[in-house]
Amino acid sequence: MPRRVSAAEITARKGSAFPAVTAYDTPFARCVEAAGIDVILVGDSLGQVVLGFPSTSAVELNDMIRHGGAVARGTERAHVIVDLPFGTYEASDALAVASAIELVKHGGASSVKLEGGENVASRVRAIVDAGVPVCAHIGVTPQTAALSSGFRLKRQRDRLLRDARAVAEAGAFTVVLEMVDDELAGEITEALAIPTIGIGAGPHCDGQILVLYDVLGLYPDAPPFAKQFGHLAESATEALRAYAGGVRERTFPTARKKSAAAELTGYRPN
Ligand code: KIV
Repeated sequence: MPRRVSAAEITARKGSAFPAVTAYDTPFARCVEAAGIDVILVGDSLGQVVLGFPSTSAVELNDMIRHGGAVARGTERAHVIVDLPFGTYEASDALAVASAIELVKHGGASSVKLEGGENVASRVRAIVDAGVPVCAHIGVTPQTAALSSGFRLKRQRDRLLRDARAVAEAGAFTVVLEMVDDELAGEITEALAIPTIGIGAGPHCDGQILVLYDVLGLYPDAPPFAKQFGHLAESATEALRAYAGGVRERTFPTARKKSAAAELTGYRPN
């Protein structure tokens, strides 16, 4: 079994442009790894793009454990970052450490991600001290953006530089910059020794990340910065139409010979 990419190896990618993407299940995690992408985030965007909630706040630790495990089972080499969902780290350093350890023990996590800057620096330090690498996430932080002035943050230079330095000093191995103005994202990237991973933060970040279903064209409400590199929703609908038509027109299934029972070797019961 090959060894997974470590947090330290991702930190060493500072200055190189590397891709990362979210995934939530085993088959798509396999596709991501087969495409040569070795940094996967099991994001709490799960709540919206997979579970159909209006925001990420309904996501539970058990959801992340279930889906993190599925992604880990679908990959061999990829570094799997699993999100700490809303409510699993805010109350205390001890809660944050306990939640992070659950994600490592039962949720396939190579590392965990949490949202916030200066305000979560002690959480980052506590989790890292417990032996679990931490990916930070500053700029627009979806777990609380709707509750606060979070969506206006993207141009607050001093605040964002302070947040970035605080999480880096606390031991984060990388930091996601979400919807930070391009030039400011470049300035933060230069100021830090750890790599930045941008989403809607322009071309000057070290790595880039997108939500899988936005990349694949499988989610109807993709944000404007997310380029669709495929159109899977259309292909899926076409395939399903073809299947439904086959059933209605009795062209599927075709009759099998009696001896076809032999074909059942390898059958996967549903
Ligand atoms: O949950 C998520 O998918 C994320 C990315 C948008 C970075 O946090």
